[in-house]
Amino acid sequence: MGARARPCAYARRVTTWPLRRRISVSRLAPIAAFPRRAARVARHDARVIADSARWLLTSREHHNYTYELTPNNLDHLAWYVAAVCDTPVSDVRAFVAEITSDESLREHIRAATAASARRGLADRQIRFGRRVGWYAIVRARKPPHVVESGVDKGLGTAVLAAALLRNAEEGSPGRVTAIDINPEAGYLVRGGTWSTVVDLVYADSVAVLAGLDRPVDVFLHDSDHSAEHERRELATVEPRLAPDALLLSDNVTTTSVLSQFAEKTGRHFLAFTERPARHWYPGDGIGAAWRGQR
Ligand SMILES: C[S@@+](CC[C@H](N)C(=O)[O-])C[C@H]1O[C@@H](n2cnc3c(N)ncnc32)[C@H](O)[C@@H]1O
Repeated sequence: MGARARPCAYARRVTTWPLRRRISVSRLAPIAAFPRRAARVARHDARVIADSARWLLTSREHHNYTYELTPNNLDHLAWYVAAVCDTPVSDVRAFVAEITSDESLREHIRAATAASARRGLADRQIRFGRRVGWYAIVRARKPPHVVESGVDKGLGTAVLAAALLRNAEEGSPGRVTAIDINPEAGYLVRGGTWSTVVDLVYADSVAVLAGLDRPVDVFLHDSDHSAEHERRELATVEPRLAPDALLLSDNVTTTSVLSQFAEKTGRHFLAFTERPARHWYPGDGIGAAWRGQR
């Protein structure tokens, strides 16, 4: 039986392979491959359309979208923070677990959102995305002074404040100066324990940075996302940085301002790119520049 099937399969291969080979080197090759290629891209696009449709129907957000990261992306984020902070990845994973299981912070954000004027444009589910990385960085480095430019609702500020409060419990207190040009920004950090370590400042970020009177240990750019503004913020904050300060940028998927700054000032640079789970938005990232052992 097997002995009879073998010559048959062999004969089939002999007759089809030369034809396929001849097509693959001819001008017909792209046409022959078209159905398979179209099916692949259609499968991908169908997933994006399904995620977009679900989001349109279930989310209320209209900017500064929130989402979870895919498990694989969260794992990459932990390794990224471990590299930037020169900290064992097991410690970073423990920090990630702290913030993802912080029910009192989630409850506070839910209540503050429900009481806010923008509640109609916010989701009930609290999702931190890349801010989990901000949390882990502040936990790992224990900075006395964090500066965040661009606050919006205050979701990132709340996450930074949660990290600073944990650091304080361990004997390393710190505060965050949170700057926004919009006086309505920051409603998530105007009350609750978290507000005790937050200094909200309402003005243009460059003007505020120019007037800072104590060294900056972690600087996070997340305000006006134009390259010029990011460049101006970095130039203004540079003389106010502590010697081992860490600079972060939320702009890293769209500009190379921080990597250029790192190169010019002799710092390391590393970028993390988000992969949102079940969301149409392609995600933002975290750029980091820091001095360290070569
Ligand atoms: C992307 S949001 C900040 C998001 C926030 N960091 C978070 O974690 O959700 C950008 C914010 O920057 C503020 N902004 C824009 N231009 C600014 C400027 N020149 N100075 C200070 N804040 C600015 C906007 O009002 C807006 O609230």
